[in-house]
Amino acid sequence: MLEISTSILSVEKENATKTFYDLEVAGTDYFHIDVMDGKFVENNTEKIMYEYANIIKQISNLPLDIHLMVEDIKENIDRYIPLRPSIITFHYEACRNDEEIMKYIKYIRENNIKPAISIKPKTDIEKIKKFLPMLHMLLIMTVEPGKSGQKLIPETIEKVKELKKYLDKENLETYIEVDGGINKDTVKMAKEAGIDIAVAGTSIISTNDFKQAISELR
Ligand code: DX5
Ligand code: ZN
Repeated sequence: MLEISTSILSVEKENATKTFYDLEVAGTDYFHIDVMDGKFVENNTEKIMYEYANIIKQISNLPLDIHLMVEDIKENIDRYIPLRPSIITFHYEACRNDEEIMKYIKYIRENNIKPAISIKPKTDIEKIKKFLPMLHMLLIMTVEPGKSGQKLIPETIEKVKELKKYLDKENLETYIEVDGGINKDTVKMAKEAGIDIAVAGTSIISTNDFKQAISELR
């Protein structure tokens, strides 16, 4: 069954704790934490996301799915290790070379966290193929990273199809996650293309019935 990772980027501070509690009751599979540094992307959410992740850790045992949209990857991995996230995803485009990528994959794994790489809409699947056997998951961005509430870029679904075909051919079990502009309509194409996890922010958080929103996505 399709897993849902709820992006808490647009959760308001005043009712954050209650919202997280409600999301767990509503059946989210993960909490998706969007860490932005004001350098890799324009927005800066470092402080608020760290605060939110800490609140979630106090009230829930659900897994954290950390999405690092940052230039200083090591520093941010170190910041989140004590919170024992399930998955840490960093961006291919934030790395200088293959050695650096390998170093982070190894470091995340050594800390018993599942490593994942994310690629922006314009980055080709070819670029990350060699890392797939070492990765728990590949996150294909379906919008330009940086903010919630954007429209899914249809061409990104072609990348999901291409990746799924390649994983099957190579007998690899790497998960595919998509992130950005996922709602009950767009999720269909993504599902058909072969995703395992869908990240959704606006289409869940902006409703007043999280349970309904999550089950519709699934
Ligand atoms: C975009 C973030 C996403 C996004 C999801 O940079 O990584 O997680 O906020 O929000 P929606 O579902 O509103 O596109
Ligand atoms: Zn994200």
